[in-house]
Amino acid sequence: MLEAEGLDNLYPPQEDAMNAGVLDGKNLVLASPTASGKTLVAELVMVKHVLESHGKVLYLAPLRALASEKFREFGRYESLTKQGGSSVRVGMSTGDYDSTDQWLARFDIIVSTNEKADSLLRHKSSWMGELSLVVADEVHLLTEHERGPTLEVVLTRLREINPRIQVLALSATVRNAEELGDWLKSGNVTTEWRPVPLREGIYHDGQVQFKDGTSRKIENQTSTPVLDIALNVLSDGGQALIFTETRRSAVEMGRKAALVLKPRLSKPDERALDTISKRILSAGEKTRLSEALATEVASGAAFHHAGLAPPHRGIVEESFRSGRIKILAATPTLAAGVNLPARAVIISSYERYESGLGRYPISVLEYKQFVGRAGRPKYDKYGESLLIAKNQDEADWLMDRYVLSQPERVWSKLGVEKVLRPHVLSTIAAEYARSEEGLFEFFARTFYAHQYGPRMIRGKIGEILRFLAKEEMVLMEGRELVASKFGRRVSELYIDPVSAVLLRDGLFNRAKKLTDFSLLHLIAKTPDMSPRPHPRGGEDEKLSLLASQHSDEFMFEAPDQFEDPLAFEEFLSELKAVQSWLD
Ligand SMILES: Nc1ncnc2c1ncn2[C@@H]1O[C@H](COP(=O)(O)OP(=O)(O)OP(=O)(O)O)[C@@H](O)[C@H]1O
Ligand SMILES: [Mg+2]
Repeated sequence: MLEAEGLDNLYPPQEDAMNAGVLDGKNLVLASPTASGKTLVAELVMVKHVLESHGKVLYLAPLRALASEKFREFGRYESLTKQGGSSVRVGMSTGDYDSTDQWLARFDIIVSTNEKADSLLRHKSSWMGELSLVVADEVHLLTEHERGPTLEVVLTRLREINPRIQVLALSATVRNAEELGDWLKSGNVTTEWRPVPLREGIYHDGQVQFKDGTSRKIENQTSTPVLDIALNVLSDGGQALIFTETRRSAVEMGRKAALVLKPRLSKPDERALDTISKRILSAGEKTRLSEALATEVASGAAFHHAGLAPPHRGIVEESFRSGRIKILAATPTLAAGVNLPARAVIISSYERYESGLGRYPISVLEYKQFVGRAGRPKYDKYGESLLIAKNQDEADWLMDRYVLSQPERVWSKLGVEKVLRPHVLSTIAAEYARSEEGLFEFFARTFYAHQYGPRMIRGKIGEILRFLAKEEMVLMEGRELVASKFGRRVSELYIDPVSAVLLRDGLFNRAKKLTDFSLLHLIAKTPDMSPRPHPRGGEDEKLSLLASQHSDEFMFEAPDQFEDPLAFEEFLSELKAVQSWLD
């Protein structure tokens, strides 16, 4: 089958993986550069499990765009026949977190996001205990603050309930792949090999300086460097993928790109794009966002972020693949794993904002994921990536900081109370542990405990248990731990226990006047809604006015601006969220 697809040889990292015994059931961490063909290794092992030993496979992907791509690609294995005569079945589940999805039991290969897998484990889907192989794609994302711990808990749990499960972890090149391997009781293959050359460079003042010493002039056509570069790539027959920091900036960059592209379109492109634009308007719900998208697409540009409805997202991905959309502006939702025809990746901002942390530069690991979307073997013979510098000093710094640097080590982020709390609750609620000792035993098997030792996490679990008991989510009967109905529901609904407490207390408090506004504000207040948008200069007054207009509709007393300025700032950001929902 693969020969018919034109695949003659294994890439060197694939050969190394075979030699490490991955087809003989050995666990493996395969840490290898972007586009080096890690997926095929997974495919061979998955198909072997299904065809030869009635196995059942879970493929974990961190992002929906990646899960969809893999699901579509794995679909071709449905033409193969299992022992006994039935054909291989491939399924995907990424949606609704409050469901057992028992129907998935029929499939041999199941693609899911890490969060969905976590929610299925909380719902105790029975087939999760019948897995023979788990593939963890992009396993280095374990190091991410928000979502890494979910993957860590899922892997720990799957190994706990399937003691003989084979683990195949696919990773970017990181400094401590060996340590990951030790944790997963795996062999480890690390390579630096990439099939398509990738030229990394820095743009400054009309010139791109590449790592290899070469440089290229970029004509100033638009006064926006990112778009000048994109046009330069287009004139050379390539397509450009621009990474932006926020959803809003993705939409805005797409809009600017559309304006620039419009006069440059050929007639056939115009007609094809017009059809695609109409498809967007007729597919799914019509919103302001989908209308903005349709307008951009008509001119050959688009944006892509996690707020897009699935049908629209699908059309954008497909039309960029087919070459009709020439410039795509995306948030990091397209940063990992996907195969797109991006000759060039342009990183428009290398900074991120997080409340509490302020602005900070992205990690080298993240940078390498971005640039890795360029130059994919199926589409391009070479790829380019560009960072934008405002002055020579910044250009030098960017070259040092990103282009010439090695990715960081992967560190577990499970030790933060806010992150650990829902996992402690779900472990009790789904009856994976029935005592404090049981909890310790489970968390002692995590990567966190592997890196920091099991004692560090014990204290934190104790504190979390006290919180869960005080809020009546967990009942302590002697040494036994049981979740209350409330606790079970919170775990199944996949919300932060602190959100649940806020919702409960808010509903008990009752506003003087209970309106939709009361409920929207209550929701905006929960940690599940963070990070919330920060009010910009000049907005404070408008939001304060909104607060006074709705003063008797709040479930909690509004903080005083002068007595508690920090709480008041938070309050304004909650109002800003409500405002954006009402708009
Ligand atoms: N042996 C091979 N011969 C030719 N093409 C291959 C081979 N193996 C994989 N490819 C192609 O290489 C491309 C990149 O592969 P893949 O998506 O698996 O990369 P990856 O290592 O997972 O990268 P990333 O880290 O970005 O996820 C795919 O389009 C795939 O079809
Ligand atoms: Mg991959």
